[in-house]
Amino acid sequence: MNVHATALADAHLPDEQTSAFARDAIDDLSQHPKRLSPKYFYDATGSELFEAITRLPEYYPTRTELSILRDRGTEIASIIAKGAALVEFGAGATTKVRLLLKNCDFGAYVPVDISGDFLNAQADGLGKDFPSLHIYPVAADFTAPFALPGAIADMPKVGFFPGSTLGNFEPHEACAFLRSARSILGRGAQMIIGVDLEKDERVLHDAYNDSAGVTARFNLNVLARINRELGGNFELSAFTHRAIYNRERHRIEMHLISKKTQTVRMLGTSFSFRAGETIHTENSYKYSLERFAALARVSGWKPRTSWTDPAGMFSVHALVTSG
Ligand code: AVJ
Repeated sequence: MNVHATALADAHLPDEQTSAFARDAIDDLSQHPKRLSPKYFYDATGSELFEAITRLPEYYPTRTELSILRDRGTEIASIIAKGAALVEFGAGATTKVRLLLKNCDFGAYVPVDISGDFLNAQADGLGKDFPSLHIYPVAADFTAPFALPGAIADMPKVGFFPGSTLGNFEPHEACAFLRSARSILGRGAQMIIGVDLEKDERVLHDAYNDSAGVTARFNLNVLARINRELGGNFELSAFTHRAIYNRERHRIEMHLISKKTQTVRMLGTSFSFRAGETIHTENSYKYSLERFAALARVSGWKPRTSWTDPAGMFSVHALVTSG
C-alpha cells in the first residue's frame, strides 16, 4: 500500500477543535438573528445522519452527481492531464472519488480534511482497492491556505470539490475559496466541481424536509453536539426543524425554531429564546449554469466544460486556471 501518513503530523489537536467550536457557538448564538455554522453538523453522529440523507428518496443531489460522474466518466477522463495529482477538498464518502480514480489515470491522490482520523480510515480503504496509487492525506482546514505534499510538486494538479459543498458558502466566500484553491493548486491546474442547480421549489423543499425526518434529526444534532461537547443543556424537543427556499437569494435556509420562551446555558453563558425565535443553521446556495460560470471567471478560473443529468437537476464543471 502507498499511503503516506507523514502529513498527518500537522493534525490539529482535538481540544483545539473543541475550543474553536466553543468560540464559534458562543459568538454565533450571540448574534441577532442567532446562527450556528453548518461545519459543526459533522461529528460522528452527524456524518452518519448525512450519509442517511444521501440515501433518502427526496434527496436527489448525491445520486444525481454520481450518475453524472459515472455517465460522463470517459469524457471527464479525456480532459484530465495524465499522471496528475487529484487533490480533494474535504473528504467524505469515497464513492465519488473512486469513480474518478477508476476512469482516469492519476499519479497521486491527496485528500484534505480537518479530521485526521477520518482521513486515515478513508486512505486505508482506498489504498487497498488502488494498490499502485500514491495517497498523501493532508490534515488541514481546506478553506485556509495549506501546503501540498512535496512529492506531488512536479505533477499536474486537479482539484476535486464534489457534493455542492460550495453551496454552504456565501457568494463572497465561494469566490474566496475558488481563489484560494487556485493559488494552492497553482497555474495550469484543473478543477472538477459539483454544483447543485436551481429548480422547482417543491423539489428543493422536499429534499430538505424529508418525510422520514432524517434532515430534522441532522439539524437538531448540532444542539445535541453542543450538549455533549460544550456541556450545554439544550432540550431537543423544544426546537423544530424548518427548511425554506429563499428565492431572492437562491438558497435553501435551514433553521431550528424555539417552540417556547426558554433559556439555555452552555459554558457558563445563558442564551434566551423567544417562542418562534430561530437559529439559522445552514444556507445551501443553488446556482444556474451561467451564474456559476460567472463566479468561476471572477475567481481566477476559466470554465471549460459542464455536464448535467438529463433532467438538469445537478451540474459538474471542469475549470482551468486563467492567466
Ligand atoms: C453537504 C452542504 C451539500 O446543502 O445539500 C443536506 C448538506 N443539509 N441536507 C446540502 C445538507 C441538509 C448538503 N451539503
